[in-house]
Amino acid sequence: MTEFLRISDLWVDFGEGREAVRGVDLTADRGETVALVGESGCGKSLTALALLGLLPGGANATGTATLDGTELIGLDERALRRVRGSRAAMIFQDPMSSLNPTTRVGAQIAEVLAIHTRTRRSARLRRAVELMESVGIPDAEARAGQMPHQLSGGMRQRVMISMALAGRPDLLIADEPTTALDVTVQAQVLALLRERSRDTVLLFITHDMGVVAEIADRVAVMYAGKVVETGPVAAVLDAPRHPYTAALLRSVPDPDRPAAGELPTIPGQVPAVGEHVEGCPFRPRCDRATDACRTMPELTPAGAGSVACHHPVTEGAS
Ligand SMILES: Nc1ncnc2c1ncn2[C@@H]1O[C@H](COP(=O)(O)OP(=O)(O)O)[C@@H](O)[C@H]1O
Ligand SMILES: [Mg+2]
Repeated sequence: MTEFLRISDLWVDFGEGREAVRGVDLTADRGETVALVGESGCGKSLTALALLGLLPGGANATGTATLDGTELIGLDERALRRVRGSRAAMIFQDPMSSLNPTTRVGAQIAEVLAIHTRTRRSARLRRAVELMESVGIPDAEARAGQMPHQLSGGMRQRVMISMALAGRPDLLIADEPTTALDVTVQAQVLALLRERSRDTVLLFITHDMGVVAEIADRVAVMYAGKVVETGPVAAVLDAPRHPYTAALLRSVPDPDRPAAGELPTIPGQVPAVGEHVEGCPFRPRCDRATDACRTMPELTPAGAGSVACHHPVTEGAS
C-alpha cells in the first residue's frame, strides 16, 4: 500500500558536505496530522521547503517525495507552481512575511482564488469574505477591506490559513504557525487547523513538544537532519524511546505539576551544518552514550513506532 505522502531518503545540502537534512523518511495518510518536532536548527523547515520547491538559494534537494503518486522533488518551476496552487500549501510563523503589506486582505485572498477559479472579481471578493468567515474572523466584510497591519497577529494567521485552504490542498504544511501568538490565540488557531485539515495531510512543524499532543496523530522527532524517533503521539509522549525525545519532553512545562525551579534544558548544542559527528549525532549530548554509538544507529521498529538508538529508553524507565 502506498501512503498518500511518502518522503524517502530526502537530503538537503548547501554544497561541500554541508548537509542540513540527511536522509529523512516520513509517510502520512490522508487526514493524518504528523508533527515534525525538534530543536531549532534540526532541519525541519528545510524538509518542508524542499517538498514545495521553496528552498533558499544554494540549497539542493535529493531523494524522493510523492504526494498521491506525484513526485515533488526535482520538478521544474512551472510544475511546482501547479503543485503549490492546488496540491500543497504552506503557512509560516510570521504571516506578515507572506502577506503584501499594501493590499487589502480580502483582495489578497481573491487573488489566490483567481488561480483556481474563473469567476468574476466581484464573486471572488465575496468568496474571500466567506473564507474569512469560515476561519472565524468576526466582521469579515469590514476586515476584508483592511490592510494586514490593521489586523492582530492571530487574525493575520487566520487570513493565511484561509489563503492556504483556498486551493483545497491535499498537503498543508504549517511551520511553527502559532509560535508568535499568545497562548489563548494559539489554542484557537490550533483548533482551527485541526478542524480544517480533516481531509488533508497536515505536516505540523514545531519545536514545542507541548503542542504536539494538541494537534498531531503521529510525531516524527528530528535531530541533526534525521528522524530519530517516530510513532503515534500517545505512545511517543507516554514512553519516549530516544534519549533526545525524552530530554525534549522533560523540558516541557507540565500544567498539572508546576515546576519548582527551572525546567531542565538539554546541555550542549545541535551540531552545526557541516560539523561531522561520528556515529549518532546526539552522542556528545547523550547520557546513555557508549562506544557503540560511534556507529550510526538505523531507524528500527520499536513498540508502536521506530527509533534510531543503540540504547533506547525502555518502558517504565525515564
Ligand atoms: N540559507 C541557508 N544557508 C545556509 N544554511 C542554512 C540556510 N538555511 C538554513 N540553514 C541551516 O540549516 C539548518 C537547518 O535549518 P532549518 O531547516 O531552518 O532548521 P529548523 O527549521 O529545524 O529550525 C540550520 O542549522 C541552519 O543554520
Ligand atoms: Mg524552522
